[in-house]
Amino acid sequence: MTKHTVLLTGGAGFIGSNFIINVLKRFNSLNIINLDKLTYAGNLNNLKEVSKNKRYRFEKGDICNRLFVDKLFKKYAFDVVVNFAAESHVDRSILKPGSFVKTNIVGTQILLDAIKANPVKKFIQISTDEVYGEKRKGKSKEFDILNPNNPYSASKACADLLCRSYTKTFGLPVIIVRLSNNYGPYQFPEKLVPLMILNAINYKHLPVYGSGKNIRDWMYVEDSCNAIIKIIKQGEPGEVYNIGASNLQSNIKFVQKICRLVSKKIKISSEEILSRIEYIADRPAHDARYCLDTSKIYNETGWTPKTDLDRGLEKTVNWYLNNKTWVTNVMNKDYLKYYKLNYTNR
Ligand code: NAD
Ligand code: TYD
Repeated sequence: MTKHTVLLTGGAGFIGSNFIINVLKRFNSLNIINLDKLTYAGNLNNLKEVSKNKRYRFEKGDICNRLFVDKLFKKYAFDVVVNFAAESHVDRSILKPGSFVKTNIVGTQILLDAIKANPVKKFIQISTDEVYGEKRKGKSKEFDILNPNNPYSASKACADLLCRSYTKTFGLPVIIVRLSNNYGPYQFPEKLVPLMILNAINYKHLPVYGSGKNIRDWMYVEDSCNAIIKIIKQGEPGEVYNIGASNLQSNIKFVQKICRLVSKKIKISSEEILSRIEYIADRPAHDARYCLDTSKIYNETGWTPKTDLDRGLEKTVNWYLNNKTWVTNVMNKDYLKYYKLNYTNR
């Protein structure tokens, strides 16, 4: 069987590490090179179960370092590149936008230049529903204009436009995928789901921004990974694909759901956990609602999400309860420092 070599950037992060574990299990013909800078969000503990796999190799480096990236492309002949590497947290982008511009825009451009000089079959750019801006009614379609409202989503939108321009100008085989909010194992606990699970367990307040009525579409990370695999195999170069789960939830209802699930697993009553929900100052430019039209990926590949929200959340709560060492290591890192710094002062 022909071997394929995939460069995956940001593979030590949340979705990237889930993706690596998933594909190494399923595809014997794949070699994976994981290029990651190991920022606060990158964690090699996520990849313990594959670290000795002969088809997996880790390369520590920065996608913004052109010399390093060029050398890597000379060292390996990549068939496919999947760019997960990013600064990914909206709240941090409000505090310090500079690293978002650098990694998300300049880093993507350096990777695009690398595939221009060293052709690959496909380059998959991992993007987000946030680039469309808020969608108070209806669903965002792939050809809608981009209307980002915070530095994170603006940097991701810039990267999408660069990808588009490299396809149009240089004919590069770039595919953009726009994911809705993901949750699942190995997510850094600054994001809503792990933050709420861990605060609930640890008798801390559960900070809900603004009215709590903002709506997000929650997708279990395994479903995202399976969709990305479908796109690598069947996606058309030059195209954009929305990937979402149609699990629209207001933040407050979603947080209450998480509280009830956690209380079923530990000896704290749901009333006690729910009483710790605290409405705090809103995030600036907090988008009211995201909602993706996912008919294109369904029509072209047949992909649909398989994990319903209750099941996915239960698996996630179990994972955080059963992986205490992972949690302790992560909390010791940068987490507490950030927790104190956050503009919301929670
Ligand atoms: P994450 O923050 O958990 O991981 C990002 C990874 O990128 C980390 O391992 C980090 O070390 C690495 N990285 C950061 N800067 C780098 C650089 N300059 N060079 C090399 N590596 C670098 O992010 P995630 O949640 O796994 O998101 C992955 C991708 O999916 C991102 O592009 C994000 O914008 C997109 N996305 C995420 C979600 C979500 O809900 N998590 C939703 C939509 C889109
Ligand atoms: P988040 O996980 O940061 O993802 P994103 O901003 O990319 O959607 O936040 C999800 C939603 O939850 C978002 O509407 C902001 C809200 N939120 C809170 O209400 N409290 C929190 O402590 C966090 C982290 C997020």
